Amino acid sequence: MPNIGGQYTALGDTFLENLQGLTATKIYRTDALRQEEMNRQSERFRRITMKVLTMQLNSITIMDLIAYGGAAVGMIVAVVRFRAGCMDLAGCLTILLLAADFFLPMRLLGSYFHIAMNGMAASDKIFKLLDLLEPVRGGRAIPGAGDIHVKNLSFGYTAERGILHGVDMDFPAGSFTAIVGESGCGKSTLAALLMGRLTGYTGDVTVGGVPLSEIEADSLMDAITYVSHKSWLFRGTVRESLLMARPDADDAAMWDALRRANLADFLQGEGGLDTAIGENGANLSGGQCQRLALARALLHDSPVYIFDEATSNIDVESENDIMAQILVLAKEKTVLLISHRLANVRGADRIYVLDGGRVAESGTHDALLAAGGEYAKLWHAQQELERFAKGEVPA
Ligand SMILES: Nc1ncnc2c1ncn2[C@@H]1O[C@H](COP(=O)(O)OP(=O)(O)OP(=O)(O)O)[C@@H](O)[C@H]1O
Ligand SMILES: [Mg+2]
Repeated sequence: MPNIGGQYTALGDTFLENLQGLTATKIYRTDALRQEEMNRQSERFRRITMKVLTMQLNSITIMDLIAYGGAAVGMIVAVVRFRAGCMDLAGCLTILLLAADFFLPMRLLGSYFHIAMNGMAASDKIFKLLDLLEPVRGGRAIPGAGDIHVKNLSFGYTAERGILHGVDMDFPAGSFTAIVGESGCGKSTLAALLMGRLTGYTGDVTVGGVPLSEIEADSLMDAITYVSHKSWLFRGTVRESLLMARPDADDAAMWDALRRANLADFLQGEGGLDTAIGENGANLSGGQCQRLALARALLHDSPVYIFDEATSNIDVESENDIMAQILVLAKEKTVLLISHRLANVRGADRIYVLDGGRVAESGTHDALLAAGGEYAKLWHAQQELERFAKGEVPA
């Protein structure tokens, strides 16, 4: 049978993608191209649907012929046998009455066959998904503080292309560590590895002294909170959003987290903790979304925090508020800050500079500036740019 399910899914995917990318399509005026592609896919879907319908109609016709034909043949044979005197009236009548009942269920079976085929195709997909192996994780809990040590860590999404190469890093408990490096050098990949989201690395990673692969999933999630630049906010209320992080949190704890994230004043003017949130914070500004994500993370109260460009693409005020809280947090927790903006990592106990998946330099801000390497170059370039943006340096 032609793969109608695959075509249907592909059409649905294209439709959804076009809808989500409508703004970009309009800006670059590629709507005509997109429409053509959509038309092509719809036509392909129409043809394949027609093919399947034709096949179904054909097979139904054949089944009808067999069912009604079989019943008719049975009746004719019975009548002929009766007339020839080989059968009595009772036997002949029984066959006449039962012939239809014998063949009609076969016709029904034919129509069930189609339903079963569709069901089998769907269940194949479901079972394939269910049969996927759960990543093997150990059952050990992380004892106490969250110090993280990474030794000779190498990783690639594919066998051909390595992303991290022999990375050595230490994140002592209660320390504030930053990772910087140009886009694509592997910072988020490293964070995902530490969160246990990626497997298949070589080298040693330990959290609280326990090898990462042996740590129980729940224990790892309790130990590390990850805040990215696009933390997802579910539709619901602020309260529901915050309770995700700590289900037993009372109102006072929630307000405290919101105050720390500098979102309390805004929410008091709205509906307080019951302020509605649209899907992925659609009714909040980018900065407010990130501040709510920060409040949620603060409530989680884990020993380790990873901030991956948590202040990217938001207003300066929100960035400053969030950075101030990260610095407060860094006094008591293990904090790993990934940031493009070097001014934000200045206060870190240690800064790692990643270059092409390798640690190029590491040290404090002052030590790296004194070393005059890549970090120093980047720092001066960014400072120059910021002074220029403020109008302190003539163009
Ligand atoms: N899911 C993925 N599958 C395959 N390759 C990926 C995947 N995610 C990232 N990569 C590749 O890994 C490399 C490192 O990506 P990563 O997201 O870690 O960079 P980054 O340092 O965080 O960059 P940025 O500063 O832009 O966030 C990139 O070259 C990217 O192409
Ligand atoms: Mg990244």
